[in-house]
Amino acid sequence: MSEQNQAGAGTAPPRHIAIIMDGNGRWATRRGLPRTAGHKVGAETFRKIAYYCKDIGVQYLTVYAFSTENWKRSVEEVNFLMLLMDRYIRELMELMERDHFRIHFSGDLTALPPNLEKLARKATGMALELPDDYCLVNACLNYGGRDEIVRAARRYAADCVQGAQKPEDLDETAFSSYLDSAGIPEPDLLIRPGGEKRLSNFLLWQCAYAEFYFTDTLWPDFSPEEIDKAVAFYARRDRRFGGVKE
Ligand code: FPP
Repeated sequence: MSEQNQAGAGTAPPRHIAIIMDGNGRWATRRGLPRTAGHKVGAETFRKIAYYCKDIGVQYLTVYAFSTENWKRSVEEVNFLMLLMDRYIRELMELMERDHFRIHFSGDLTALPPNLEKLARKATGMALELPDDYCLVNACLNYGGRDEIVRAARRYAADCVQGAQKPEDLDETAFSSYLDSAGIPEPDLLIRPGGEKRLSNFLLWQCAYAEFYFTDTLWPDFSPEEIDKAVAFYARRDRRFGGVKE
């Protein structure tokens, strides 16, 4: 078992929480508002929850902000989400040193609008200068779990062609280091608000041993109390990682 998988459930908060921020559209539609209004409130929820997770000692927070499938939405909705992400990334960049956050991005950034890609790369560079114990927000933009695995496989194959790697040396640890999440421990707890009980192509590799918490609460209504409930659920889990209790 790798070292990163040994964080057990118990009284300590999960080291890494991953969230599928689902339900923004339905939240808005139920109020007779455009879907974008749900994303606006959902982004505020993201901010509130990021600070709360940091305050309770969560070291890594991964959020699904835009999937490889979300391009199928209307141009208006996609453009709105891009602008929203631009705004929140800028804010995090300004505050990360003061508020002890770091930022990292997962996903194929090359397909994002060039200004957003540039901003994400700048924010990543700034975060690399910050202490390792600052809470790391891993924002998944243009992210798909399968796409991440395919891109990692391509990079490994390219290194084999260059002679830097050998196919027979590939193991799980080596492969993990080619993923967007390289260096980030696997999620302990995955939270999905919004009532659906599926992974939707999120962190397919990384969630092999995550505990899953589902709630009907829509993301814009999600609160710190919901995090407390999810963490309490996590604390009751008996994590065996495929082994048996001694
Ligand atoms: C899913 O709800 C939510 C999204 C596709 C967008 C989430 C993005 C944010 C909250 C912005 C956060 C910004 C950063 C930088 C992390 P949905 O629209 O699929 O809801 P529905 O299932 O009710 O339609």
